[in-house]
Amino acid sequence: MGDNGKSTLSIRDNRTGRDYEIDVLDGDIVRAMDLRQIKVHDGDFGMMAYDPAYMNTASTRSTITYIDGGKGILRYRGYPIEQLAERSSHLEVAYLLLKGELPTQSELDTFVHDVTFHTYVHENVTKLFDAFRYDAHAMGMMISAVAALSTFYPEAKYIDDPAIRWIQIVRLLAKMPTLAAFAYRHHRGLPYVYPENELSYTGNFLNMLYRIGTSDFKPNPVLERALDVLFILHADHEQNCSTTTMRVIGSSHADPFSALAGSMAALYGPLHGGANEAVLRMLSRIGSVDNIPGFLEKVKSREERLMGFGHRVYKAYDPRASIIKRTADEVFEVTGRNPLLDIALELERIALNEEYFIERNLYPNVDFYSGIIYQAMGFPVELFPVLFAIPRTVGWLAQWEEMLLDGEQKIARPRQVYEGSAERDFVPVDARG
Ligand code: CMC
Repeated sequence: MGDNGKSTLSIRDNRTGRDYEIDVLDGDIVRAMDLRQIKVHDGDFGMMAYDPAYMNTASTRSTITYIDGGKGILRYRGYPIEQLAERSSHLEVAYLLLKGELPTQSELDTFVHDVTFHTYVHENVTKLFDAFRYDAHAMGMMISAVAALSTFYPEAKYIDDPAIRWIQIVRLLAKMPTLAAFAYRHHRGLPYVYPENELSYTGNFLNMLYRIGTSDFKPNPVLERALDVLFILHADHEQNCSTTTMRVIGSSHADPFSALAGSMAALYGPLHGGANEAVLRMLSRIGSVDNIPGFLEKVKSREERLMGFGHRVYKAYDPRASIIKRTADEVFEVTGRNPLLDIALELERIALNEEYFIERNLYPNVDFYSGIIYQAMGFPVELFPVLFAIPRTVGWLAQWEEMLLDGEQKIARPRQVYEGSAERDFVPVDARG
């Protein structure tokens, strides 16, 4: 509402001289459909908003995650990410994202118990992994395995039933670490280690990844907690590429396993969840602090991209990157310092003082330091996007369910501006030039 008490937008169409008044809704938004009434001739389709890459289009209302990219603020259900990273656990945050409120102790106990007791996958899933080549990328295996889960739980397609939805959510949260560990063990040619119910979410994951030849493997508590913090930081990030994919696929009422496989495919790309892998490869390629100025020159001349920098929404320091930087110190106390950290720190220092990055508001994002920690913790580079997908699973599912329960949503179907040929007659192949 403006100071004059009005909450509308006046539009004059200079093609026709006609005036229109459309409502401005809370949050400074106008409905794109309100533009449709603007026409030159009665039979026209009407005006559309043209917005490639959704740079300025809100596709939904949401109560899950709040980001102020200019101020570097990230909150889940209103709680600042800094407080959650400091005081909560990934499964507690998962409950918060899914249910909207922090759980009571008994709600949390039940939730943790349910997730813990659904970590096993059908034995046939191991055969699926066996079918992949030894050097198959972990993310490709994961995408396939998650899609395959829909065939084990055919009732998942009854997406209107809240109880059925909930059990699939629990299953997905529970089984993602198991699938990820199986993908890793397959890659290494190691036998699969099955879940152990007395371990924590991340402790169990580390156990399934790394236990070899001993029954009393104990995950290091510092690393277990650091991974849990990293999972909290990655749990949701509102309408990014993979979450939008989840909502778009889910809008056709596909089952959540199939939709989630699609989100994972979107996450796989180097501009999204593949960025931490790309950062590590970039740092290794730079090789030494001396080579940084030469590398940044190539970034400025667009021969290279500074991976782990820049964000569609954050035009300030990504708050997740600050927390990760602190977590790195704790991890390195246990693992020893990753030599790539010195290159990353110097790269950040120089870049933040360079005109090119300052004028474009390019700061480190969540992926700039996460890969360095993951590498120090012994994760192979191919597992990095998987380490993003495991915690983001809850965000995808919370957003998926919110979409299904939103009365304003329908099957997603953008418009296009057709610029191809006008109608023309088919030409037989022997008559073509
Ligand atoms: N290195 C060099 N230049 C960059 C970078 C970068 N990392 N990011 C943006 N720019 C430049 C870009 O070339 C453009 O310059 P100009 O205006 O002269 O053409 C300007 O900054 C604006 O960038 P943009 O491409 O319009 O920004 P976008 O919102 O379309 O892209 C991004 C966002 C994250 C894809 C991009 O910043 C990028 O490619 N970053 C590197 C990949 C990366 O780290 N991705 C992880 C994102 S955070 C994790 C996640 O949510 O997935």
